[in-house]
Formats: sequence, C-alpha cells, structure tokens
Amino acid sequence: MDKAGSVPSTPLERGGPFDHPGSSIQSQSQMLAPETPVTPATPRPNNPLWLLAEVTYKCPLHCVFCFNPIDYTRYGTELTTDEWLKALRESREIGATQLGFSGGEPLVRDDLEILVSESRKMGYYTNLITSGIGLNEKRIAAFKDGGLDHIQLSFQDSTREMNDFISSTRTFELKSKVAKLIKQYEYPMVLNVVLHRLNIDHIQEILDMAEKMEVEYLELANTQYYGWALLNRDHLMPSREQLQRAEEITNAFRARIGDKMKIYFVVPDYYENRPKACVNGWGSVFITVTADGLVLPCHEARQLPGITFPNVRDADMKWIWYDSPAFNKYRGDSWMKEPCRSCPNKARDFGGCRCQAFMLTGDAANTDPVCDLSPHHHVVLEAVDKAQQQSKAATTPAKPIIPIMYRDDKNSRKLSEEMGAENKTVSTV
Ligand code: SF4
Ligand code: FES
Repeated sequence: MDKAGSVPSTPLERGGPFDHPGSSIQSQSQMLAPETPVTPATPRPNNPLWLLAEVTYKCPLHCVFCFNPIDYTRYGTELTTDEWLKALRESREIGATQLGFSGGEPLVRDDLEILVSESRKMGYYTNLITSGIGLNEKRIAAFKDGGLDHIQLSFQDSTREMNDFISSTRTFELKSKVAKLIKQYEYPMVLNVVLHRLNIDHIQEILDMAEKMEVEYLELANTQYYGWALLNRDHLMPSREQLQRAEEITNAFRARIGDKMKIYFVVPDYYENRPKACVNGWGSVFITVTADGLVLPCHEARQLPGITFPNVRDADMKWIWYDSPAFNKYRGDSWMKEPCRSCPNKARDFGGCRCQAFMLTGDAANTDPVCDLSPHHHVVLEAVDKAQQQSKAATTPAKPIIPIMYRDDKNSRKLSEEMGAENKTVSTV
C-alpha cells in the first residue's frame, strides 16, 4: 500500500502503515536455526495484542516514502490462504486481538474477503489499511458481510498533481470514489496522509479536504525514515519552519472543528530529542507476519543482521512469541549499552527503535540516535541541517540531489543487487 509515515509507537492507538511479493531466494534470515540462547534474565512477556498481516508486497502504487523493504523482490513466495489462516489462528490463541491487513496493497489478494471473515469469526478486531485501489462496491459489500470493522484509507495529498506524483500513478479520482464508498457502507472515515517536504505546505488544503470528506479520524503522519523513505530522505524531510507552520495550522483547525474530527499529528522522529517507544518495546505487544511468512517483532526488523527470524511455515506462533531467540533478542534491558543501560527513561522508551539504531549507527543495540544522549545523535542533527539547506535551496536555484527513487520492482531488483546476496542494507551510515 501507499503507506508510510509512522512507525507505531503505540500500535493500539495508531494503525501503523506497511507491504511485499516473492522470488525464490530464501535469505539466511528465513531459516530456522539456533542462535543466542534466551538468557534467564529475559522477562517472560505478556501475550501479544496487535498483529500486522502484510499479506502481499505487491502494490499498484509506487510511493517514494513506502515503508516496505527496498529488496522486497528477492523474498520467497507468498503464504497461501491456509497458511495465513494458521498464522491468524495461532496468534489469536496466544492473545492477539487487533488485526491489521496491510501490504503492499492488501486488496491485491483475492482471498482477502476469506481472511477477513475467518479472522472476524476467530474474534479479532479487523482493520484494512489500504490505498483504496481495488476497492469496489462488490468487495466492500463482501467485507461488510464478513464483519470487517474498520478501513483506513490513505491519500498522498489534497491535489491530484502531488498525489499522483508521489505515487507515480493516476489514482486521485479513484481514491475519492473509494472515500465515498466507505461512507456509503457506514464505516467510520479514517484518513491517513503522509506528510513530507513536498506536501506539508498544503496542510490547510489537506484539512479542508478531510472536512469535506467528513473524516472522523485523521492521521497526519510525517514521514519516518525507513525503507524507501530513507533512500529519499533528502527529498522528503521538511524544514523546522515547515513543520511548525503545519502544526500551528492543524491546531487552529482542531480548535474550530472540535469533536467532529480527531486529528493525530505525528512529528518526525528526527525533530525530537527523545526517541519513540517503538512498537511499545521489542516483543512486547506487536507481531508482524510478512507476505512470505517471516514473523517479526516490527515491520522493519528483517534488515537486522545476525538474527534468524522464524517463519510461520516452520514454527508455531506460541513458540515464536515466547521462546524464539529472535523475539527475545531485545526484550528486557540486559542487551542495552550505555547511555541507555543506566538511564531512568529506559523503562519508558526502551532505548528507542532498534531498526533506526541499526540504520543510522550500524548496530541495533545502540541507543536510537534520535536521543540527544546518544553519542551518535550528530547523525540526526546533520540530516536535519541538510533538510534546512535543501529547503532553502528549493526556493532559490534548484540544488542537484540524487533523483527521487520510486518503489517499484525494477528499482527493488537493482537495489537488491547492490546489497548483494548477503543480508546487507543500503544505509546512510
Ligand atoms: Fe531513552 Fe536511552 Fe535516551 Fe535514556 S539514553 S532517554 S533510555 S534512548
Ligand atoms: Fe522500530 Fe523495528 S521499526 S524496532
């Protein structure tokens, strides 16, 4: 899907975004093998609450801020319907209750109606996280019959031009029709718009569009820099002035609209000085199952080296959640380094995001460099400084930067080759 902005710090509050397809390469990270034993000091976790089903990496859109792994074209074949039902059943048995169908674009799968209705029977609260492309009257009626609880629709902008530019498709009109269908079928109108340098100045128009669409919940999620968004960070990061203006306009709109619309404005991590409690802590409440069956504690973890993530084809979810070395790797605090280890905030933010720590410092056990106590915090400050410069350059003569990179199969194949056969990542370190 054309998802993107927020890595959910509290997934129960924010329907996070997310997607994948399959080639035949089975990476190291997909094979089950023993590794670091679970230390006795690792606390026994509670049950999971939130399951994100990334049912496919296929997507008709090509958003430049997509969360999906950039090497998605080298992953294995997609799970079958039965394999998905096994994963859903086993996750429900160990306590997961909130289920998000995401992708890629989940509507690409023609068994989505079955997955929705079966998971509803299992007792899940179900959420479809979608670009809207592929949602027609027949399908939404089937979802309604099957008990789908919630649909989160994304738009890229209030203007056709920017919506279509960012996704490299002509989808604005289609999305507008889907928004009407969602209303017609009496779903709460939940709209997600990912913000970045290229659209954040349209904030007033985006809010006006939401009001016109009778949106009840609006997520204005500033891009977080993972996956394709990290590649395109120099194009996407807004300046501090842009952010402040957007927040002011949003607050004024909030004051006027009152309870009619609930608005979440998610600030980009890079402009904070303390990190988010990413996914509420590793292996704490959140599970992602990827299109090819890998089970992850967050939707970005696949890139982390030295961890063997289990696959639902080979193991049951109970073992994966409670006992797999991968899910225990960053539970508790025995893995932490300084300054987190002796920091009073560690129980609140868990040292931030493991994936961001890896992407920006090369070691997932480091403090998330968003934290101003991190010895690597300068990496974030430099990116912010660059954004200020780029933003000024945009209003004077254009400054050449690496061309924007669309999320598509061709680019993914090229980047996969650059990453090589090993599980390397293209990073900014
Ligand atoms: Fe959080 Fe670690 Fe920073 Fe302390 S040092 S505030 S625990 S990230
Ligand atoms: Fe934050 Fe992986 S995305 S821990």
